[in-house]
Amino acid sequence: MLRVAARRALVPRAALSARLQSTLPKPDAATPLPPPTAPAGNAPPLPPPGPQPAVPQPSPTVAESTPAPAPAAPSSRSSGPGAGKRLKSLLVSSALFLGTGAFLAYAYDSRAGVHRWLIQPAFMALTKDDPELAHEIAVKILSKNVGPVDCGVDDERLAFELWGKKFSNPIGIAAGFDKHAEAIDGLFNLGFGYVEVGSITPVPQPGNPKPRVFRVPESNSVVNRYGFNSEGHAAALARLRQRVINFVYDYAPSLPASLFPAPPATPTSVEDFDPIRSYLASPEAAGAAPADAVGLPRSLSPGKVLGLNLGKNKVSDPDSIDDFVKGIAALGPYADVLIVNVSSPNTPGLRNLQRKGMLSELLEGVVQARDLLPTSIKPPVLVKVAPDLDDGQISDIAYAVTTSKVDGVIVSNTTISRPASAGTSPTLKETGGLSGPPVKALALRALSALYEQTDGKIPLVGCGGIASGQDALDYAKAGASLVQLYTGFLYGGVGLPRRIKDELAELLRKEGKTWKDVVGSGRAKAVPPPPAPAVAVSQKADGLSEKPTEEDFQKQLGEAKVELEALIKELAQSDAAPPATAGESAAAPVATTVAQPATTPVPVPAPVAESLPTSAASPAVAPGPVSSAGPVPVSPSSPAPTASSPNPAPPIAKTAPASKIDDLPLAAPAQAILDDKAISALLDPAKAQVETGVVPTPEGKKDVGEEPKKQDDKRWV
Ligand code: FNR
Repeated sequence: MLRVAARRALVPRAALSARLQSTLPKPDAATPLPPPTAPAGNAPPLPPPGPQPAVPQPSPTVAESTPAPAPAAPSSRSSGPGAGKRLKSLLVSSALFLGTGAFLAYAYDSRAGVHRWLIQPAFMALTKDDPELAHEIAVKILSKNVGPVDCGVDDERLAFELWGKKFSNPIGIAAGFDKHAEAIDGLFNLGFGYVEVGSITPVPQPGNPKPRVFRVPESNSVVNRYGFNSEGHAAALARLRQRVINFVYDYAPSLPASLFPAPPATPTSVEDFDPIRSYLASPEAAGAAPADAVGLPRSLSPGKVLGLNLGKNKVSDPDSIDDFVKGIAALGPYADVLIVNVSSPNTPGLRNLQRKGMLSELLEGVVQARDLLPTSIKPPVLVKVAPDLDDGQISDIAYAVTTSKVDGVIVSNTTISRPASAGTSPTLKETGGLSGPPVKALALRALSALYEQTDGKIPLVGCGGIASGQDALDYAKAGASLVQLYTGFLYGGVGLPRRIKDELAELLRKEGKTWKDVVGSGRAKAVPPPPAPAVAVSQKADGLSEKPTEEDFQKQLGEAKVELEALIKELAQSDAAPPATAGESAAAPVATTVAQPATTPVPVPAPVAESLPTSAASPAVAPGPVSSAGPVPVSPSSPAPTASSPNPAPPIAKTAPASKIDDLPLAAPAQAILDDKAISALLDPAKAQVETGVVPTPEGKKDVGEEPKKQDDKRWV
């Protein structure tokens, strides 16, 4: 039963599976491809009829079936105290057997109370001192497909479409739970509509020393400093490949016959010919092409979406985008959605990539790399940001995501702050990112602001402290098209996705709305209109829940003037000092915030989207020194026509990069693992842009008033 359940996420289900089981060999997980299927006529012969070789039997059975040779043996099986005992043991074992079966059938359903009230608390108590062990056990169970299953049906109010993909519900599991792509089907079986695997780094790395995960039960939160422990691209790729192979073997009869190569002409080789194996070995079956061919998502399950979250190796250059480009090249063909994680607090320098100039460069590079994938379907690329962003940083992110044509933003990762709502546990002093309910207010605030500044045009994924249907609804109303959670799952257990979905459906029913209807519907209430100058917004500590008044603005302007005068005095006194460059002068935080509106028309008004040059209308700014008053140079991807793309894919082609990039021949064979040559073919264009000045160099970006690179306050290694 469990085995059938494990397969339930795949389509079409039962009938097809039964047919397949009888006709096709099941591939062994250890061997990528099975031996050719033996033709029916060559099936191994059945054992000859007649007496079979004697099999040694356990003695009690022999005693039961043979007349007793010894005088002590009972002469009859149906009377005396022995018979009574046998009957009793038969009854006991039958009861045990039936009881176990009934319990398994009951516990098979993730909604069963035993999970919530017995197994989960017991599991948490047993692993109290080693949360990482609990994590490993949970992943192992789900990876073996022996975990419980969400037996409910998703309410149709929860269904929606995003990035051209159908979601049966908006509840996802966030990155960090299934870091190595081991438990994808187990997680889908629990009812998540979206599973995000990762973060996956290019080469394996162990992460930080243990202990590195800490529970804070008083606020149902967690502090972690895993530091991207990852088995690397190759291991994730092998698992993703095996899923596709299993899928093709399981569902071969329902795949179009035209996919499979015709048998060879020579009769001798026909015997060894296995169309499934030949297909799988061909470039046409690379990546998740078999799913693409039949219109299934790469999750291999209708209504479910698979995201792959890409990380950076600790030893990689903190400013380089190469690790992300490698991830796109290697894992992109298996992903419904790709995520670029620039917000983990546990990798030195990573969060610096969120800064304006660097983020634009990064996002333009990854979008271009995605467009170069040799697959017909190009996965949308999202960027995942931190919750610890001030309004200026949110403006920068809004600008970067809009200009780079990235497809969405996940808000947010863990926080480096320790909000009061996290409690007072000494564990909170542990270094690392905090997750769970205390993150919700921070993430909601950032998400609302981003939704406002992108004018609701960039899909947002809400994450942080979600553990109920109401939490999910709060995020939707603030502008999230999809939500995901991790810490809530850790505390809430396997039934949580179903509980959230049921509660959410009920809330929507009461409002007479669907999930789609409520996305962004709380915008007017949650976020003030932002046309106030950047200085007023950036100094507002919690300004999202209330509109900055004229009085506020005048007060802040007055303060700014005072600070500016003080700064001018200070500068005059330090005449002897060497003149500061644009970047250096920005290093003084007060000077940056205050001086910008007073002295330069800084291109960071809110809402940012309105101030951006439209991709078609705005000419690219020539590389080289750029005036401090000028806008950030337009990316080569903006105005490029898409017709020249070698891989025209309807929705994404609109954002295809310049022909300069598209024209580069992609030497990559459409194989599961792109080789080094293919990866460098993907990497080179990104590098070439920097070299040729199409994408401004970091120096060039400094000239447009970018803040100098600051390292993360804490380098958590
Ligand atoms: C995470 N998170 C995370 N995010 C990411 O992009 N890559 C990662 O590898 C990890 N790893 C990770 C490990 C652990 C133990 C936790 C708790 C979290 C962050 C996670 O995806 C999510 O963004 C935050 O945890 C906030 O959501 P929750 O947990 O409050 O629902």
